[in-house]
Amino acid sequence: MRTQIGIVGAGPAGLFLSHLLHLSGIESVVLESRSREHIENRVRAGVIEQGTVDLFNETGVGERMRKEGLVHHGFELRFQGKGHRIDMFQLTGGRCITVYGQQEVIKDLVAARLKAGGQILFDVDTLTVHDFDGTEPRILFCKDGEARELCCDFIAGCDGFHGICRPSIPAGALTFYERAYPFAWLGILAAAAPSSHELIYANHERGFALHSMRSPSITRLYLQCAPDEDIAQWPDARIWQELRARLAAQDFALNEGPIIQKGITLMRSFVAEPMQFGRLFLAGDSAHIVPPTGAKGMNLAIADVRLLSRAFAEYYADGNKQPLDGYSQACLRRVWHAQHFSWWMTSMLHKPESGNSFDQRRQFAELDNVTRSRAAATNLAENYCGQPLD
Ligand code: FAD
Ligand code: DHB
Repeated sequence: MRTQIGIVGAGPAGLFLSHLLHLSGIESVVLESRSREHIENRVRAGVIEQGTVDLFNETGVGERMRKEGLVHHGFELRFQGKGHRIDMFQLTGGRCITVYGQQEVIKDLVAARLKAGGQILFDVDTLTVHDFDGTEPRILFCKDGEARELCCDFIAGCDGFHGICRPSIPAGALTFYERAYPFAWLGILAAAAPSSHELIYANHERGFALHSMRSPSITRLYLQCAPDEDIAQWPDARIWQELRARLAAQDFALNEGPIIQKGITLMRSFVAEPMQFGRLFLAGDSAHIVPPTGAKGMNLAIADVRLLSRAFAEYYADGNKQPLDGYSQACLRRVWHAQHFSWWMTSMLHKPESGNSFDQRRQFAELDNVTRSRAAATNLAENYCGQPLD
């Protein structure tokens, strides 16, 4: 098999890259280790920035999101039992976010690629990448028990944090910047109507809690927990009890319902620099991850592949390799802004491991500042809605 761009991974980064390349007349093949059913049902992100929504609309994959996505003009910070609304729309001069499940984005992108005759090979295994330091990169893999080879001009490593592309780059060629957090998130999806129209980020002495949603009848909720938490120790009744305690506020009642999915997410900040080596380009979580508190990961993945697709388009149009050479640098400013914002939101909202009362008072002072000072609230709102795409 031969193609122009061999893409490893059918997450938001890989699928959207393939879609953008197709719009520029560039061929690609996407290789994914999991089944179509698996990736279309994997529950992850929910908050989509304005810039990402606009880009999906401009490139013809935003139709269902426009109909089913929930547009939010604000969100709430809740601490010391009181809610404080951050009016993103007003503070940013009209920007907002859309709540729409990542697995719905995946379904829309898979459908768009297949409709346009795009090639996505699911359930591939033992995938390895080769010769990307020369001019003829190759990807070896097995499909249905048969060994296959994909030759390409370039490889896009869109295989997430645990993928194989980044570790295939020779040791020493990349620098890693990393921070682990002493807590994780226990997330659930519940068949219950959301208890508030907007998201609620709660700082509570028992730990952080987040109220989000997927539709008028499905609530998405998260609880701060230990990184080595055993989910078996969290029967449904305990989860609801903890959510009720952490989200408690006057005139607030948490709607409950059957829990349809639960899982634990570890939290990490990580950046690999540069995001390229020879003819292998990393995009999305394979190059960087953020703790989920700022809701930035998928949005960053989309911003990366927008730049990467444009760089490939210039290369194929007139042989100009400069945008490809500058790809990493072009991405990293946004990446580091999101790193800072996600770290800051995380440290402001989670119960510190130290249990130190100084840290708790410091958090309240910070929350008081962002909810009282218009300048501080504007900064939060601008970051949360996301920087416009370059
Ligand atoms: P992934 O989605 O990880 O996709 C990588 C793909 O590569 C996967 O399909 C994987 O199966 C495949 N793969 C891996 N290894 C191989 C291999 N060897 N061969 C072939 N295929 C391979 N982001 C937001 O923007 N907003 C949010 O609200 C938000 N909330 C989140 C909440 C939670 C609980 C979590 C866990 C994440 C959240 N994120 C959020 C982050 C977001 O989900 C990720 O940043 C996003 O999925 C990154 O996309 P990606 O395409 O780079 O990687
Ligand atoms: C959701 C996830 C996030 O990481 C976040 O900050 C807000 C909402 C969600 O899954 O709905």
